[in-house]
Amino acid sequence: MGKNLDQHLSNFSDRILDHIRNGKDVSVTTHIDCDGLTSGAIITKALIRAGAKITVRTTKEMSLGVVKSMQSDSRDFHIVTDLGGGFAKQFDESLGENWFVLDHHEILEEEHDNERVINAWKYGIDGGTEICAGGMAFLAAKALDKRNSDLAPIAVVSALGDRQDQGERKSFLGKNAEIIEEAKSLGRLQVDMDMLLVGRETRPLIDALAFTSQPFIEGLTWNRDACLALFKSSGIELKDGGRWRTPSDLTDDEKRLLIESITKFASSQNASQIMEELIGHTYTFPAEERRSFLRDAREFSTMLNSCGRISRSGVGISICMGDRNKMLQEGENILLEYRKLIRDYMNILTNERWRISDSARCVMVNAEGVVPETMTGTISSLLAGSPKNAGKIIILRTNGEENTIKFSSRKSIGCKTDVNLSSLMKSGAEKFNGIGGGHDAAAGAKITKDKLDGFLDYLEDSVNGNNSQNSN
Ligand code: C5P
Repeated sequence: MGKNLDQHLSNFSDRILDHIRNGKDVSVTTHIDCDGLTSGAIITKALIRAGAKITVRTTKEMSLGVVKSMQSDSRDFHIVTDLGGGFAKQFDESLGENWFVLDHHEILEEEHDNERVINAWKYGIDGGTEICAGGMAFLAAKALDKRNSDLAPIAVVSALGDRQDQGERKSFLGKNAEIIEEAKSLGRLQVDMDMLLVGRETRPLIDALAFTSQPFIEGLTWNRDACLALFKSSGIELKDGGRWRTPSDLTDDEKRLLIESITKFASSQNASQIMEELIGHTYTFPAEERRSFLRDAREFSTMLNSCGRISRSGVGISICMGDRNKMLQEGENILLEYRKLIRDYMNILTNERWRISDSARCVMVNAEGVVPETMTGTISSLLAGSPKNAGKIIILRTNGEENTIKFSSRKSIGCKTDVNLSSLMKSGAEKFNGIGGGHDAAAGAKITKDKLDGFLDYLEDSVNGNNSQNSN
């Protein structure tokens, strides 16, 4: 109660600056997803500007092993971003007072009293929708030096990566909305109302339409031939000389034509709902080159997610910290590789039907031996966006390191269950000596293989309403 974020940030700043003045090294440990890479990059850049000697490392999750390696690390001070919920006691025991966590995942009340835990929830901020770790790191960076407000665009990318654009028409709420205003006022961000096609700056029109799966338009989504036919009939030019045009090249008239054509195509489906989802706020960085994957903030976030998931986190962090040379080409290659992998995994899961068990409330997907642990979230999110699975909970599993099984769960579109996936995964995993957590609509867990059958039974009972303690 009564926790004051500004006070805690100012304490953070005093302590860190003191360490830097005393010549102590700092280590940043962060998560591999978009929010992890952005939050890690923001705080690292701010610390370098403040004169710190610093190293950054990424990890898929916080564990006792990671805490141990932090303890044996020669660096004197540790900052953890987008991770660390539930580990305050271990950090205290292993690192004394030499650590801070900047995070937005829900934590237990007992961690609220630890001043080294700077977590959105304990200040009454909804970490699921109003701010993510990138935003928390941005606030901490500004506490170190007001001039770090120029890092606002990276905080915008983090919020998009965590899908916090949950206001009307994909706008932002709470602290995120303040960060958007700050980036706009610095001339670093442009916000428009536009079609939310993927690859706004980089993908040929046909691909942009075909690979947009939110909204999912039956007959168009993932069907390039149908998309080509639609563009042809609408009379929109697909090429400009030898170059494929992208959604960002469309004129207002062409956008109107395209919207009309899609509405006509989807007339037997719920066209008005499709339009509701298709048109929303877009976020553009005018300082980035036209047709660069860094210009549209959503594409930027996709690239960062791809980096982490195919073990190229360093590229993502470098780009967030401002590297625009060799790293740009690297980033582009990572995106291509990532898209190919997703197509391959989805094909296997669709073709090997035995992997999917579908019940009234839940789709269980066995992706063992197919989807690597780092990509479970991507694939479960895609499955959750497919109308075939509408209204259901998706639970996907695959093998993790050291005889573990990793679970990734999502509420699909239109899912009205009162099961809170965060509690489902957290309390369930704990029952089976594993770890789990996340948010109401997206959560993950990890258990050892020998507990698999019991955990699957628990999940089935819980999602089918036989286990009321996991409901909200
Ligand atoms: O792993 P997955 O992508 O399914 O996780 C969904 C969300 O749950 C992410 O925001 C992730 O950071 C969070 N999570 C967590 N604790 C875990 C596993 C996942 O907070 N043990």
